[in-house]
Amino acid sequence: MIRIAIDGPGGAGKSTIAKMVAEKMNMEYIDTGAMYRAIGWLFSKESVDTENEEAVRKVLDETTMDFEDNHVILNGQDISGEIRTPEISKAASICSKLPAVRSKLVALQRGIAEGKSVVMDGRDIGTNVLPNAELKIFLTADPMVRAKRRYDQLVEAGKEADLDSICEDIKERDYQDTHRELNPLKQAEDAVLLDTSDMTIEEVLHQIMTMAEEKDEQ
Ligand code: DC
Repeated sequence: MIRIAIDGPGGAGKSTIAKMVAEKMNMEYIDTGAMYRAIGWLFSKESVDTENEEAVRKVLDETTMDFEDNHVILNGQDISGEIRTPEISKAASICSKLPAVRSKLVALQRGIAEGKSVVMDGRDIGTNVLPNAELKIFLTADPMVRAKRRYDQLVEAGKEADLDSICEDIKERDYQDTHRELNPLKQAEDAVLLDTSDMTIEEVLHQIMTMAEEKDEQ
């Protein structure tokens, strides 16, 4: 059994890489960011006042979440297609600060990973969700490089995009993610740092696969 934790800031390529590693090693991939996005989506849709602890708890108590083939199923509905917008990125960042949200999602994440090989990506996987993961990677890249990658994806999908505002959003989210009180984005002491600013996806994948195969053989 091998558990691979991939943490890092938004837009560093975590999910692309994590998906590829999981496929190559025939393991389950768990995108924890999608889970925070799903809660952000729900709170926006239901206009939940995130300052009101009781209201937050009530909605969370009535919420079920599952993962099927990389799709998030929230209260029985597949909402994967609706959670990749800039508005939901912001909503996810806001709700990921809330203790009730984090404790619900962390418990779910640990439950999904229990007893099996997984690749899990997020912000606090190596430091908090799976502190005993066999391999921990901290994947990062310069904010402008991350902004340019996101910009290219949007343009390719035929969407309108503005590089400077994407870069500002990325910096803002980095600040939020690293400065929140609870489980902030932080490299675990035993994580391997990979700065992908000047690396291709193939190079990143090769490095991680080499480390994962070494761990798997141990
Ligand atoms: O990786 P992403 O952009 O899909 O993540 C969306 C938000 O969720 C991000 O702002 C931080 C939060 N998040 C978190 O707090 N902890 C995680 N393990 C994963 C994501």
